[in-house]
This record gives sequence, structure tokens and C-alpha cells, in this order.
Amino acid sequence: MKVAIGCDHAGLEMKNAITPLLEDLGIKWQDFGTCSSESCDYPEYGEKVSAEVSEGRMDRGILICGTGIGMSIVANKFPGVRAALCSEDYSAKMSRMHNDANILVLPGRIINSATAQDIIKIWFKTDFEGGRHQRRLDKITAIESKINKQQV
Ligand code: RB5
Repeated sequence: MKVAIGCDHAGLEMKNAITPLLEDLGIKWQDFGTCSSESCDYPEYGEKVSAEVSEGRMDRGILICGTGIGMSIVANKFPGVRAALCSEDYSAKMSRMHNDANILVLPGRIINSATAQDIIKIWFKTDFEGGRHQRRLDKITAIESKINKQQV
């Protein structure tokens, strides 16, 4: 399992707080920035991480901004990306079981690091259930194909 991680300035503190946990969980991760507390634009870092997942170079991603909303909007533009904004355990669990989420988005200004760490533990240990949920994901993939064809 290889995980791409990224954040903007509002997510930096949380990113630094979760990387030791990824180490403890034996997860290989690569940091795509930002590594500075200077104000920056979340689409730049959202794009880097989402492209890694969308193009199959990384298995999963973690993105963090202030609310998680901007990063979610960016990530879900990428084909094959299913980004889930989670601020509690239940959504984190369901995003894996029902949505096979491959990018976890965290709101750095809304939850604390302890909550983020709990969410990460649950998100990485929960498997996709498949079955009727796979049928629904196939419908999302079909929507992506339809949109791509309209753009050609
Ligand atoms: C940055 O101030 C903030 O707008 C950003 O981190 C994020 O919350 C956007 O959705």
C-alpha cells in the first residue's frame, strides 16, 4: 500500500501529526507538499495527490485543507478518484465499506489530531464490501465515461 499525502497551509500541522501514525501502521507514504506554513492554493496540492491516485502510481491518498471542502472538490474531478471528506469514525468506515474511497480528505481546522488519527486507523483497516456497492460504483464509472466522451 503506497499513499500520497498533501495539504495546504491550513492542513500542514495535521499532516505533520499523522505521518508518524502512518509509519506505525507500516504504510509507505510520499509527501507531495506543501511543507511550508506560508499561505498557498489548495488546488495545486490536491491535483498532485489526486493525479497520483487517478493514474495508478499510488494506491490511496490523504488530503488536508482547512475545511476539507476545497480538496474534496479538486480530488473528485479526477477519473477513478473517490474522495471522502470525513470528520468522524462512522463516515470514515462507511466511505471504505460502501464507497471504496481511495482518497481520505481531512478538515485540518475542524477536527483535532487525535480524531484524525482515529479516522485514519479505521479508514485503512476497513475493506470495501462489494456486492450492491460495486454496482453503484460501476454507475459512477459509467458517468465518468459519458462525460469524457462529451468532452472529445
Ligand atoms: C484556506 O484558507 C482555506 O480556504 C482552505 O484550506 C480550505 O478550507 C478550502 O476549502
